[in-house]
Amino acid sequence: MSIDTLSTDQYRVTASDKFKDQSPVSQTLYEEASDRLKFWEKQAQQLHWHCPWNTTLEWNRPVATWFKNGRLNASENCLDVHLQDHGTKVAIIWEGENGTQRRISYQQLTDEVCQFAHALKNQLNVQKGDRVTLYMPMIPELVVAVLACARIGAIHSVVFGGFSVDSLADRIDDSESNIIITADGGFRRGHCLPLKDTVDQAIEKANHSVSKVVVVTYAQNKIHWEAGRDLNYHDLIKEAPTTLAPESMDSEDPLFILYTSGTTGKPKGIVHTTGGYLTHAKYSTKTVFDLQDNDIYWCTADVGWITGHTYLIYGPLANAATVFMMEGTPDFPDKDRFWEMIDRHKVTIFYTAPTAIRSFMKWGDDYVTRHDISSLRLLGTVGEPINPEAWQWYHRVVGKSKCPIVDTWWQTETGGIMISNIPALNDMKPGCAGLPLPGISAAILDNDGQPVSEGGGLLSLTEPWPSMLRGIWGDEARFKETYWDRFPTYFAGDGATIDDDGYIMVLGRVDDVLNVAGHRIGTMEVESALVACDGVAEAAVVGIADDIKFQAILAFVILKEGVFPDADTETQLIQNVGRQIGAIAKPKGIIFVPDLPKTRSGKIMRRVLKQLAAHETVGDTTTLASPDIVNIIQDNMTSHPLFQVKSTS
Ligand code: WT7
Repeated sequence: MSIDTLSTDQYRVTASDKFKDQSPVSQTLYEEASDRLKFWEKQAQQLHWHCPWNTTLEWNRPVATWFKNGRLNASENCLDVHLQDHGTKVAIIWEGENGTQRRISYQQLTDEVCQFAHALKNQLNVQKGDRVTLYMPMIPELVVAVLACARIGAIHSVVFGGFSVDSLADRIDDSESNIIITADGGFRRGHCLPLKDTVDQAIEKANHSVSKVVVVTYAQNKIHWEAGRDLNYHDLIKEAPTTLAPESMDSEDPLFILYTSGTTGKPKGIVHTTGGYLTHAKYSTKTVFDLQDNDIYWCTADVGWITGHTYLIYGPLANAATVFMMEGTPDFPDKDRFWEMIDRHKVTIFYTAPTAIRSFMKWGDDYVTRHDISSLRLLGTVGEPINPEAWQWYHRVVGKSKCPIVDTWWQTETGGIMISNIPALNDMKPGCAGLPLPGISAAILDNDGQPVSEGGGLLSLTEPWPSMLRGIWGDEARFKETYWDRFPTYFAGDGATIDDDGYIMVLGRVDDVLNVAGHRIGTMEVESALVACDGVAEAAVVGIADDIKFQAILAFVILKEGVFPDADTETQLIQNVGRQIGAIAKPKGIIFVPDLPKTRSGKIMRRVLKQLAAHETVGDTTTLASPDIVNIIQDNMTSHPLFQVKSTS
């Protein structure tokens, strides 16, 4: 692998000829994709269909129908289709935080999925189209539950296990789920996560009534048991048959809902459908990760995020890959947990987030080099821009300068990877996601929607693609307004630049959405949580640059008349936000202010706060109702520890 200087700040990296020669990716992929619909038809044909489609794409902006009238089942395409050739192949290698290991073959996984699907269908009476909420730790039963829903045509809504009671209750209400699948606990840094308690409280809190809760026994945690409502997973599947014909689903039947934050206080339930989603999941996993039969593939994302849906479950399993899955964190019991896993399980493909990479870098090379990680042959990143320094470190220390890196840009809404270099076909540039995948069209637009050929603008996907979101659950108007009102083509909400090779560098969100450690958090959600705290009159939240997490949350809070902050107020408010939303949404700091910069009509000018937080000169303040507030806020910031200049001695 060679590094040629492209310009002062950018390097081009080429995968070795050996890598290219051994790659299964067709050298003519970009040419093939010049006939876009034909190309997607060819990708869809890689799946097993009960009934072929009659129209590849029907596009009534913003409503897409892909593979019209085609019928298939997602779980069958991840399981049954592999049994003849790969029945004994390991589908999942799993290691729990306490060191428990499991290896599950395709045949075993299929059997258990069928058993649980039976139970859901026949004992819990779950019907096609019903929503089922999953609130689970990272254990194989989570994969089983996802695929069991898919098998019977129920729509799964996985809620990340770090979300709070309120967040879970909101998602149960919004999706109107009657059934919850959970566990008696999971492990995180040596502690037991009380998932079942959270479910019990969320059911209390939710307006929608939940009829059944299925509980996997895992952590042996003491839990409350509601007779008649709560059912034990293991009892349910014990007697169930290990075969169940997969429900024949229309290509456009919803496969799942996944909630993500937007610019309002209420998360959006992103809806993905069956045929198009699975087509892209299968194709993109194979192409971007160069997947081969003997790979041990590891995507570190939790199944609670889209990355876990597409690149831990559907994509790799549709390709009959061996997936490594882990419960826990990279720093427990020690900061070498990931490298220990790679060494022990001989992982060959490793896909993680820049925030993790920056932590590894900070912890030092020794944690990595004490393990034999020479099995690795390809690395990937996702979730946020990766700074070239972290890229170089990842390449050198983890990849031993021999593994190509794929920097993959996509979103919950896009269902799968949209922009990435393909190591067998093109070069990498640290910090650049690269080119749109064959079959995907993207452009950088100026404010008037005109494509720019060089320089910066707003990222848009300019043609419909199979795995695109089909809507926001129960809110068609918001779907249209969020993604389709600004430009004629899909507006991604990200700013980006394009260079003269057509390589796209994604800079980050241009809306009121923050990216904290690769997780999307709406400023409004955090503001609503703060305002819900005792004593808080008003709040405004902005992102500040963070060395590890890309962004951190900074809040400006006005307390109610007569309420004064004491030494604990800041910590209490931060904890309170954590309790209301989940730990990922906790502000890093709170600045108490007497007022916020507002226009004369009372609109908070976040721009001013962002500029203050970034130590930039504050632009025009003439539209502010009281411009003096800027200096007062600045003084209050200066005395906060976050903004105190670190001593260099
Ligand atoms: C937002 C989507 C897609 C899985 C994880 C996050 C940012 C994502 C990259 C990348 C720069 C990236 C964007 C995007 N993002 N990947 N490779 N380079 N930024 O999913 O929660 O839906 O967030 O993550 O800002 O809009 P998500």
